[in-house]
Amino acid sequence: MSKLDYKERIPNNVDLSNDLSLQRALEHWQPKFKSWWQDMGPDGFQSYDVYLRTAISVDAAGWASYGKVKMPDYRWGIFLADPVKDKKIHFGDNIGKPVWQEVPGDYRSVLRRLIVTQGDTEPASVEQQRLLGKTCPSIFDLRNLFQVNVEEGRHLWAMVYLLHAYFGRDGREEAEALLERNSGDDDNPRILGTFNEPISDWVSFYMFTYFTDRDGKYQLKSLAESSFDPLARTCQFMLTEEAHHMQVGELGITRMIEKTLQIMKELKTDSIDNIRRAGAIDLNTIQKYINFWFSSSLDLFGSEISTNAATAFANGLKGRPDEFRFENHCEKNTLFKMENFINNKIVIQDVPIRNAMNEITRKAYIDDCAIGIKRWNRLINKYGFEEFELSLPSHKFRRSIGIWANLPVDPKGRIISKELYNNALASWVPSEEDKQFINSLMVQELDPGKTASWTSKPKRGINNQEIDYDYVELSH
Ligand SMILES: [Fe+2]
Ligand SMILES: [Fe+2]
Repeated sequence: MSKLDYKERIPNNVDLSNDLSLQRALEHWQPKFKSWWQDMGPDGFQSYDVYLRTAISVDAAGWASYGKVKMPDYRWGIFLADPVKDKKIHFGDNIGKPVWQEVPGDYRSVLRRLIVTQGDTEPASVEQQRLLGKTCPSIFDLRNLFQVNVEEGRHLWAMVYLLHAYFGRDGREEAEALLERNSGDDDNPRILGTFNEPISDWVSFYMFTYFTDRDGKYQLKSLAESSFDPLARTCQFMLTEEAHHMQVGELGITRMIEKTLQIMKELKTDSIDNIRRAGAIDLNTIQKYINFWFSSSLDLFGSEISTNAATAFANGLKGRPDEFRFENHCEKNTLFKMENFINNKIVIQDVPIRNAMNEITRKAYIDDCAIGIKRWNRLINKYGFEEFELSLPSHKFRRSIGIWANLPVDPKGRIISKELYNNALASWVPSEEDKQFINSLMVQELDPGKTASWTSKPKRGINNQEIDYDYVELSH
């Protein structure tokens, strides 16, 4: 088991102290990262002690060690899952050959692009979430936000390590650029659309961590299969941390729905106005937020039919999530049935599987998203409101990339007229009025025993601490 070296300026398990030029390059990047964190990271609370987990080794026992720490002193480091001896390439055209410990010249620019695109999402989400501390519904939630933020910061470190260690000067330049682009910036935005959407309220934060961090999970799963072994091992360890982000989202949405149901039961009402007046969020509005963030996240998987995806698979750069579940790992002349939209008609087409990799990954993602929806509907039933049902909108709804891009499709997946679509959109995704209402609920609650009106108390604390524990120490 590779222990993490915490005596170093940059904690790591990659033997950094034996590579002086790499160490120096990363130490040169470190203060830039820290000043980015001060300027673009969480607004406020930087000098407070926060109950955070930090990895002290990559095995199950040590990867989450809890303690109070000021965020700027968080030990961001470089941690890779342990290597597997004699590991072989397990998909694509090069099955059976040894995995690569260096970047093959032919794949250099594609691999760099994959790493930069993944790396760009990590600081982007920290930027998107930077103001949320001002409106946190509880100290418990505040701590969860900061845990997610510091770990996204660490994920940035993970990608920057790969760029510095394996891509020479180009890599170092890309690492600088990762701190120069900013979410939502008019001149220099983040690379992917969803990561430029503002996350200005906590409903959006929970939706983002449920839906968009889950996209992250699937991207990381694909990269964890990569034949470029340092990338695979980096992503394997990132996945352990990522799981928590999605739990924050799922728990946040569950608590919000539970509060709504309690109010509905108490007041014996399903009137949107009455529920809102009682300070809770009606299920209809929650559905709209689901529609928005789910459809936006679907675009992150790319086009349904993609030659880039086919080449990345053939060359062994990017596999399918959980590649071991599939029978055929080469997929040379195999076909995949999918819907296409040709000459204004939906047709069923056979597409080479390699070209359908994005769609296969997206499908796995959709199934995963549906698990939470099922749980929430069970909760709604438990409270006796069977007439309400939350659902995922169709994968064709409100898409901007791929076959269904810019088509007027309703949440059920039916193609309708443009006019009908434009008129109905505000009833499917949050309208200005909905956003105003949500914003009116976003009031900061810092009393450790209390929770904002629109959500319920968590049932369990973090790491067996009390629910009322001061997860962020406000007296300092
Ligand atoms: Fe991440
Ligand atoms: Fe994440």
